Amino acid sequence: MNEALWYTGRGAGLVTLVLLTVVVALGVASRAGRPLPGLPRFATPVLHRNASLLAVVLLGVHVGSLLFDPYAQLRLVDLMLPFAGAYRPLWLGLGTLAFDLVVALVITSLLRSRLGATAWRRIHWAAYAAWPLAVLHGLGTGTDAGTAWLRAVTAVCVLTVAMAGAYRLLLPDPATGPLGPPAPPGNRDPRLTPLTISGPPR
Ligand code: HEM
Repeated sequence: MNEALWYTGRGAGLVTLVLLTVVVALGVASRAGRPLPGLPRFATPVLHRNASLLAVVLLGVHVGSLLFDPYAQLRLVDLMLPFAGAYRPLWLGLGTLAFDLVVALVITSLLRSRLGATAWRRIHWAAYAAWPLAVLHGLGTGTDAGTAWLRAVTAVCVLTVAMAGAYRLLLPDPATGPLGPPAPPGNRDPRLTPLTISGPPR
């Protein structure tokens, strides 16, 4: 039974990391202002949301099973309070910080209508920090961190997020062009105002 908890916990940790990677990559790339290659426009937010929900469930399985497994001697407080654990405190603490950010993200997403868009977006950006913290946690604390397959999965995760960032930053948004969005009305240089076909002024 103990073995089962230990393996379930570690396996769920890895799947959580992969799902968080999908969530972050979709979140970053979807703000590029154009549909992602091979995906219709409506699919990106749906995938982003569903992958986030699944990541939260798997994260619950990860910490839940490792909490009941005797090997790492986790206490309930170690889930929320970073760097207080007995087992590899630094690397575990990074996982706890990631966990805290994911919890903050879930709570603020549930309260989104009350928070307002600006506050919600700021917290959302802070929560993206959960991903690098989780990468370091997995590499630092994982029993499998020394194996080639775990390193390969982590490398693919890092590459995926880097590619999403490059997609967003390097390709100009077709809606706004390389110069950014058009100036708001009332703040335009009249010489640059496009000609309109209209009747005489009334
Ligand atoms: C977003 C949050 C987290 C992610 C994505 C995550 C991911 C991972 C990954 C990928 C591993 C490596 C699994 C392996 O080596 O096979 C791992 C191991 C582990 N994680 Fe997490 N983790 C997170 C949060 C936490 C938290 C909050 C705790 C508990 C306070 C925790 C406790 C552990 C423990 C005890 C291990 C096993 C270490 C070992 O194999 O020696 N994790 N986690």
